[in-house]
Amino acid sequence: MPQLCLSGLAGAPSPKVTQPLVVAGRARHQSLWQRRHSAPLLSAFSAGLIFAAAVRSPCSIVRRQGRMAAMAAMAATPEVPESFRRLVAERAGESVRAVAVVREGTTPEPEDGQVLIKVITAGINGGCETFRARGERAFAGMQNVSDYALGSEGAGVVLRAGTGTDLQPGDAVAFVGNAFAELNIVKASSCHRFGRASDMQAQAFRECAALRISGLTALVALELTGEIKQGQTILITAAAGGTGHFAVQIAKLNGARVIATCSTEEKAKLLRELGADRVVLYKQEDLSEVLSKEFPEGLDLVYEGVGGKLHETALAHLKEGGRQLQVGYISHYPQAAGKDSSPDSSTDQGKTLGDAFWGGKTWELPGNKTVYFNVWEGLKRQTLSEPPGGKPLERLFNLWSSGRLKAMVDPKAFVGLEQAADAVEFMMSGTSTGKVALDIQAL
Ligand SMILES: NC(=O)c1ccc[n+]([C@@H]2O[C@H](COP(=O)([O-])OP(=O)(O)OC[C@H]3O[C@@H](n4cnc5c(N)ncnc54)[C@H](OP(=O)(O)O)[C@@H]3O)[C@@H](O)[C@H]2O)c1
Repeated sequence: MPQLCLSGLAGAPSPKVTQPLVVAGRARHQSLWQRRHSAPLLSAFSAGLIFAAAVRSPCSIVRRQGRMAAMAAMAATPEVPESFRRLVAERAGESVRAVAVVREGTTPEPEDGQVLIKVITAGINGGCETFRARGERAFAGMQNVSDYALGSEGAGVVLRAGTGTDLQPGDAVAFVGNAFAELNIVKASSCHRFGRASDMQAQAFRECAALRISGLTALVALELTGEIKQGQTILITAAAGGTGHFAVQIAKLNGARVIATCSTEEKAKLLRELGADRVVLYKQEDLSEVLSKEFPEGLDLVYEGVGGKLHETALAHLKEGGRQLQVGYISHYPQAAGKDSSPDSSTDQGKTLGDAFWGGKTWELPGNKTVYFNVWEGLKRQTLSEPPGGKPLERLFNLWSSGRLKAMVDPKAFVGLEQAADAVEFMMSGTSTGKVALDIQAL
């Protein structure tokens, strides 16, 4: 089973919702500016209090310091609201926009091994959301379900922790789960803690939401399934995208020579800055010609998520013993750029790739070439021992926190549950760069 849509498969339970209510067009969120600046404003406010306390008598200073410590502890443990809003699919339909409605419910309690999270940012996994909204492929079971949760991945603050977890209220975590919600109950085991929320700015939540699936996919696929080696030649398609820009950097960190494809000069510039050795604007240059002329020895490794001609060309240039990591096939997805509502089975290639992808197949081809449709396979092979460099999620977040791996987030801002469909459509338009993020609420 492929893990494109990990949240649908992770078994993260949806919060229990009472008194369903459509809250049309309700804008409870703050402005983006307020979101991005609320933490510094709070810090400045606290600093002002500290200064005021310092000019008073010693006794009052001690009393005030005690009160301030209590206030600081309260500030570090965010308040738990009694109710919250979330986006659900009323029933499966054409697209996220067609099915999404906002519901309000009472705040659930986390059970053993679970945490209650205040969601700050949701990562946009447009392909996954589209299949989920349509109740297709891995989500076929949603066809007769009403009010099922949307969203795949996010980052937020732990508000309450159930028994059996080391996570604490106030921890900042990136998680796999239905993130189009103000609050979410998530398995603690699907969370990765990246610090204390009180030390973080909103941008860190966007970047960590990007790392949790898009970054991890690139790391696991390249290092564990692809077993990338120094000096190898690798082709990465959709290289300036949510997962592609991580793949470029991880390939370079492993000493590979990177050929990267994208559609615009702006994206190409970013890719050169990230270290790509050869950028191919595949709508202007013939990729096959470039590969034949400049890389006649062939490709050791391919990280491919577009399908269509890019899939075929990559496969044709794979050298003997080479591996193609087929992370997806977005150009055949319903609602992708250049498509209308036609499902992925509308073309032979779309159907073939779709069946192989959702079936988690591995193609063994002549010349000892392998195409992995389940790019997470290497993770299974490595579960009994720690891969070199540490456990994948720890290694990934360490690379990020040490500044060796950049998480790029598209600067186009999407704010609040009401803009989820806009964010999904933008991601599926083929024009976004880096990861698309939806800010759910202020820190
Ligand atoms: N297996 C997994 O666990 C996993 C996890 C994450 C993502 N994925 C897959 O990886 C691929 C990339 O996903 P992503 O989330 O990182 O997306 P993305 O790369 O941020 O966005 C998609 C990019 O694909 C390119 N593209 C080419 N033809 C397209 C079309 N017809 N419609 C839309 N985009 C098109 C565009 O970039 P150009 O400028 O290059 O044309 C576009 O920006 C997808 O297939 C996705 O399903 C798989």
